Amino acid sequence: MRILVTGGAGFVGSHVAEGLLAAGHEVVVLGVAREEGHNRCPDGARFIQGSVTDRDGIERAFAEVKPDVVSHHAAVANVTKSVRDPLLDAEVNVMGSLVVLQACLRHGVSRLVFASTGGAIYGDVPEGTKAKVDSPVFPMSPYACSKLAVEYYLRAASREHGIAVNILRYGNVYGPRQSNHGAAAIAVFCAQILRGESITITARRETGDDGCIRDYVYVRDCVRANVIAARGDLDVEVLNVCTGVPATTADIARGLMRALGREVPLSYAPRRPGDVERSAIDETEFVRRVGEPTPLDEGLRLTAQWFAEHVAH
Ligand SMILES: NC(=O)c1ccc[n+]([C@@H]2O[C@H](COP(=O)([O-])OP(=O)(O)OC[C@H]3O[C@@H](n4cnc5c(N)ncnc54)[C@H](O)[C@@H]3O)[C@@H](O)[C@H]2O)c1
Repeated sequence: MRILVTGGAGFVGSHVAEGLLAAGHEVVVLGVAREEGHNRCPDGARFIQGSVTDRDGIERAFAEVKPDVVSHHAAVANVTKSVRDPLLDAEVNVMGSLVVLQACLRHGVSRLVFASTGGAIYGDVPEGTKAKVDSPVFPMSPYACSKLAVEYYLRAASREHGIAVNILRYGNVYGPRQSNHGAAAIAVFCAQILRGESITITARRETGDDGCIRDYVYVRDCVRANVIAARGDLDVEVLNVCTGVPATTADIARGLMRALGREVPLSYAPRRPGDVERSAIDETEFVRRVGEPTPLDEGLRLTAQWFAEHVAH
């Protein structure tokens, strides 16, 4: 199949593009730049430079590529940025997604796979429980609102126009090549430990606690779900892509120090406004449809190893 991966030179998208190539598909990547930090459009995929907000450019790209399947990963993927600039978030994450959806409908794309968020749309998940896809949603940031809105647009389009849709609700994705200059705790901590700098644990409630709870999912598990979805073998519209293991920020810091065999001091900061306190996601359907997720300690070890080999320290 010919698959167009939007955002396929970014972190998750480039891993997905590689996975789709390895599965034997023809892959075209659409994005704003061919190279992004340690990520790039993979060899073997054609690159088209463009923005999902550019209607004419997207129309031309679809007319030329004629994709069978679209994997939509392009986004401003940053909760804090979305709080600071909700208009930019909506422009790219809502309008850009609608531009892609409309192009899919006009050009007879049979399936659209969408990178959504399990980490943000359920809001605070009550203690002792994990969010399932039919759990109540409570988006607490413009980013989460955008992703949820697009989910509804896609499901409506699927009912109305028959396009097959798979919505993958990723937990907090981590792995090799993730940027250590943004908000991704695991990538940032790896670089800090390797440089011998202290790690800051931002509070869940009170300064000095172990920090917020997240479901950290190894990027390879996102790739596995995407490969199954792209070939039409995922029999659910919405799937949580997660490990099912709720971990605190301090758990992650300690796990990475163990993996790297180095200790650095922990420092503590107050709670960040708008932070979801507890994100815990149910993995049952992922295990049933994709298989066992990568255990957290193994994923941390593989990620730490990559950072030790590739990031200056
Ligand atoms: N990383 C995570 O923890 C996580 C969790 C849940 C969902 N997601 C989703 O997965 C996708 C990939 O996230 P990521 O972590 O790889 O982030 P990323 O920033 O590395 O990737 C996003 C990509 O989209 C591209 N992009 C941004 N604006 C664009 C535009 N106007 N037109 C075309 N391309 C544009 C970026 O250049 C980049 O390549 C996003 O949709 C994100 O919302 C990520």
